[in-house]
Amino acid sequence: GLTPVLLCCTSVLAGKINLPEFIVKCPAHCKETKQQVYGTGVFASISSICNAAIHSGVITNSGGKVIVRKMAGQNIYKGTNSNGVRSLSLPKWRESFVVSVDALPPDPSIVYSSFSVCPLLSGQKEAKAPVATTALPVTTAPEPATTTAPEPTTTTTTTTPAPTTTTSTTTITTTTPPPTTAKAHTHTHTHTHASYCKVDLAFLMDGSWSIGKRRFKIQKDFLAEVAHAINVGVAGPMMGIIQYGDDPVTEISLKTYSNSRDVKTAIDKIVQKGGLSNVGRALSYINKQYFSDANGNRGGAPNVAVVLVDGWPTDKVEEASRLARESGINIFFVTIEGPDDNEKHNVVEANFVDKAVCRTNGFFSLPVSSWFALRKAVQPLVKRVCDTDRLVCSKTCLNANDIAFVIDGSSSVGTGNFRTVLQFVANVTREFEISDTDTRVGAVQYTYEQRLEFAFGQHNNKADLLNAIKRINYWSGGTSTGAAITYAAEQLFSKSKPNKRKIMIVITDGRSYDDVRAPALAVHRQGVIAYSIGIAWAAQDELEYIATDPDKEHSFFVDEFDSLYKFVPKIIHNICQEFNSQPRN
Ligand SMILES: *[C@@H]1O[C@H](CO)[C@@H](O)[C@H](O)[C@H]1NC(C)=O
Repeated sequence: GLTPVLLCCTSVLAGKINLPEFIVKCPAHCKETKQQVYGTGVFASISSICNAAIHSGVITNSGGKVIVRKMAGQNIYKGTNSNGVRSLSLPKWRESFVVSVDALPPDPSIVYSSFSVCPLLSGQKEAKAPVATTALPVTTAPEPATTTAPEPTTTTTTTTPAPTTTTSTTTITTTTPPPTTAKAHTHTHTHTHASYCKVDLAFLMDGSWSIGKRRFKIQKDFLAEVAHAINVGVAGPMMGIIQYGDDPVTEISLKTYSNSRDVKTAIDKIVQKGGLSNVGRALSYINKQYFSDANGNRGGAPNVAVVLVDGWPTDKVEEASRLARESGINIFFVTIEGPDDNEKHNVVEANFVDKAVCRTNGFFSLPVSSWFALRKAVQPLVKRVCDTDRLVCSKTCLNANDIAFVIDGSSSVGTGNFRTVLQFVANVTREFEISDTDTRVGAVQYTYEQRLEFAFGQHNNKADLLNAIKRINYWSGGTSTGAAITYAAEQLFSKSKPNKRKIMIVITDGRSYDDVRAPALAVHRQGVIAYSIGIAWAAQDELEYIATDPDKEHSFFVDEFDSLYKFVPKIIHNICQEFNSQPRN
């Protein structure tokens, strides 16, 4: 027995449908509703089913049938971009669902019941981003008034047609009997072992006299709620607090507490220090001292600084922010009761938020109209600081790459020179920050044939990686550089992460037996930045075909293997220069 229900595009939130499994018929153009989706593969139940189905590739934007199965809540919902839908990250939710293709044959015995949660057309914003943390399956499918079949699942009710011009009507069908009683979804507090939201997070709290006792308390409550929501832990986020006034003071260092409860207890004990609101001075302090390794800064975790400011800062922030950004700190601003038009002339530095934040695209700034509305910023803020893919300020030329070495192992190289090539590969690798979330390195050796020496992410720390490079065995044979480039694209770059820069470094000592042009062009089109290093008998024209334009910056030639070392700093320099010349916004 299947129970289809009618819904609208804008209200297909799985959490509202209290059935373990059902079929939804999604209308066309749900994507345009921009209804939010949280997670990838497994979605938080507050997500739009139809947009989750598009995200998963189960249907396209022209709609279709989707099987939805409920699942337990997860600690991690990772946001990704897929099929034109950008899903968001969420630290945890009480209930999830997965979507799959409806492969069932049409069943004429299907009896329909209605599920009228269609908003009025004017109420398009009815389903907003989840601010509340509790909540959902209140709107269960109305129990049928008239039972036409013996099974409780096969029942009919009249469908209240969706408001007048709704084209976005969704049909839902259950494949298992709906539960007769609403099951309480127990929320487990197991801590995640995955490195979800692994960030080093510093809050700069405003301790100036201007804010007063009551609002200072609101600020502390806000921080306590953030500490709770974010789930502090050594495998995930670590959280610290600086209170600033005339000068900044560390209230909680990054490494002091490894769980939310302890952080909250410490927040409770913070006493307002008073003074001005010298944010610029505080930003300098976090850059020079707070985010030091000695104070608990973890290598593989992005640095995030969230500045809470009442009104506006009493000093300038631009210079200190620029330096902090350049050292990789992602600055967010939560401005509470910021300057209105009458107050703008009092502000020390116009547009201080834009001058300070990591990017001016809105992601890093959260204006809050009043202290009493600050609570509402907890969830949006947590979501943003945990969306590590978007923390672009911690991406540098040294930590944001997938680098593939394509190494010529042909006979002409010889054993001794092959060692030198491996040294070169090791010396270049050594310059990067290596980890699964930073730069990853893969290697292919080729002759006529190709061999994957190691894939991206196979060796996730520098020591292992350098060892693996050292262990590459010289192959000896012909030289098919074109085929090797294609192989690197298939074996390595196809598994590249979307937020990494793809860099290929081809090292060869002779003319290729096959054509390099088409393979090179293909990888360039895939967004790979290609460098070519030719030694001795390498052909200049091929080196230039392989290299990304401008050739001068991507193609190098040396007469002898012994001079190869000279190109280590050059390559690093060029990679970084190219990275840094990207626009900031
Ligand atoms: C690699 O680095 C070592 C140590 O700095 C140096 O002695 C060697 O010449 C370098 N070799 C190459 C090929 O870069």
